Amino acid sequence: MPENHRLADEFTHGLLKPQATTPPKAFYDLLGSRLFEAITALEEYTPTADEHELFGSPLAQQQLRERLGDGLEVVDLGAGSCQKGIALLRALPGVECYRAVDISEDFLLESLKGMREQFKHHPTLELSAIAVDFSAGLPPQSLPAPRPDRPRLFFYPGSSIGNFTPEEARDFLADLRSAHGGCRLLVGIDLVKPKGELELAYDDPVGVTAAFNRNVLRVIRQTLGVEIDLRAWRHEARFNAVASRVEMHLVAQSHQRWAWSHRGADHVREFAEGDSIHTENSYKYTPEGFAALLAAAGWSQPTPILHPSGRYALFTATAEPPSESR
Ligand code: AVJ
Repeated sequence: MPENHRLADEFTHGLLKPQATTPPKAFYDLLGSRLFEAITALEEYTPTADEHELFGSPLAQQQLRERLGDGLEVVDLGAGSCQKGIALLRALPGVECYRAVDISEDFLLESLKGMREQFKHHPTLELSAIAVDFSAGLPPQSLPAPRPDRPRLFFYPGSSIGNFTPEEARDFLADLRSAHGGCRLLVGIDLVKPKGELELAYDDPVGVTAAFNRNVLRVIRQTLGVEIDLRAWRHEARFNAVASRVEMHLVAQSHQRWAWSHRGADHVREFAEGDSIHTENSYKYTPEGFAALLAAAGWSQPTPILHPSGRYALFTATAEPPSESR
């Protein structure tokens, strides 16, 4: 099914719910991907920089090498510009194969070209792009059969897993482990921090995050062909401490009425002033909380590598039970 039909299904479904929602992939068209890159340059938004620093830290590199080993096949979930993949491959020079997985094939191929250039002194490094939407899981058929001498490492960086609820994250990670026997995992997690810091990170004074959020309206307009007054919506970021998540909303500043047709049916959604569209959840974990989630998903030896600031962690884990000699 063409990707935009699927997105149109998801928009229609989410926008008609009492609390309207949109899926996180709605952010990442070409403009949205650029706006996210701009977010990562803001000093208020720390996850990307913290993770990058960890990959450059000799201590973290040593721990990654000890725990993950050599000769790996890396599967990068949501590779995008492949910047994180590049940082990982510099930290783990023993990687033999890198597979970039993402929705947009064009963008992936472009990113891999740049990567091939950067690693031209490593001619045996195999690079490949896999265009697939893995938000509902990654069946083994979507990847080439693993080689027995090449342990598969799933790389899920950037705290992207924070867009899932903890239950969804646990199920996603459990499915990954059971569908791909003998694999390893490296996942980046943004940690809980004071409410003020979190709300600034998701509502920066320059307004980059507001633009990133409002861009969803452009994507909806483009996907559903619905007329939208882009100026009628205000960006809002709230930390929900009970659920331990930052929520982003678009709040209607006046009454709005959207009408569109999809698969032969006509739909209308009205928003009163103050009604919102819930566009994102970004869950924040404690190191203990995320280790417990990994254990509940059946992963062995879940262990964090903490950023010295305490704001971010890389977790490693393995699908194999710990060896008996230990
Ligand atoms: C790319 C999902 C990790 O949740 O922090 C940044 C996206 N949203 N600012 C995050 C995002 C608002 C980001 N992730």
